[in-house]
Amino acid sequence: MKSAESGRHFCTARFLSQVLQGSGLIVRLDACYVTISVYYHVCMSVPRIVKLLQITDPHLHADPNTELYGVKTELSCRAVVERAFGDPDWRPDAVLVTGDAVEDCSRAGYERFKSIFEPLDVPILCLPGNHDSPDLMSEMLDTGRFSFCGFRDFERWRLIMLNSHVPGSPGGVLSDSELHRLDRTLQDSGDRFVLVAVHHQPVPIGSSWLDGFGLRNGFELLSVVGRYSQSRVVVWGHVHQVLDQQHGDLRMLCTPSTCAQFTPLTETCVMDTRPPGFRRLTLEANGDINTEVRWLDDYVVAERPPDSRIGEESTDAM
Ligand SMILES: [Fe+2]
Repeated sequence: MKSAESGRHFCTARFLSQVLQGSGLIVRLDACYVTISVYYHVCMSVPRIVKLLQITDPHLHADPNTELYGVKTELSCRAVVERAFGDPDWRPDAVLVTGDAVEDCSRAGYERFKSIFEPLDVPILCLPGNHDSPDLMSEMLDTGRFSFCGFRDFERWRLIMLNSHVPGSPGGVLSDSELHRLDRTLQDSGDRFVLVAVHHQPVPIGSSWLDGFGLRNGFELLSVVGRYSQSRVVVWGHVHQVLDQQHGDLRMLCTPSTCAQFTPLTETCVMDTRPPGFRRLTLEANGDINTEVRWLDDYVVAERPPDSRIGEESTDAM
């Protein structure tokens, strides 16, 4: 009985198959499958552009109401994130945070940081600034969507995050092991283009007081990066202002803070009246870079004196 039933099913299937083949439907379905399959594989193998959002120097505190230069840093950081993610036509693939995430090195400060960035549905790539605690960052920000230093590949791009933190110093240095890691990671990058991120400025920026607190061995960074033709750009934070320069084949980019800014090209610390900001980077599959800084022009910064000179103690808050 069972065998007769299977036989009937087999005959019915063969009959249907003959009818469909006769009508050309199976052939058409096969052709359609092949077309879709080829289209899928071609699309998947064509590298996409990478949209990277750089956010820097939020200077958060354990107490969310704490101010830096008259700016409530958590409020302004939240406003920047909201603005940066509020444009449906420019959705970042990742966020790069180039240091000074937390001003007071507190565990509660890093919890505040996580509460802002955790809800974002993209990787959050972090590196330490002079104010940060690399130990706490490595413990709290190298899990889930957060990563600490190391490198990360996106399409045709490799992003390398460096640690230039020197305990107790506002300036930075890349240790021999960090330079060696950079060299090795560049060597292994294959045909990917490379973006290098660090907190401190690797070149003088024309403000003597800030240039005293830059990356002491920036020339070594540039020497390693310059050995590899796929190196395209170095980005940093720390100096709370915009800079966009060409250094040979390398693009050199600095991004304003999510809180207060410093006036460029000054001998001493002069606060800028510019509002919080962030940078968009569009990394093309052919190695080109399109970038722009966005300012929160309508952000009201209360109680911050415009262009006020403040003393040497201000280097504590860089
Ligand atoms: Fe800094």
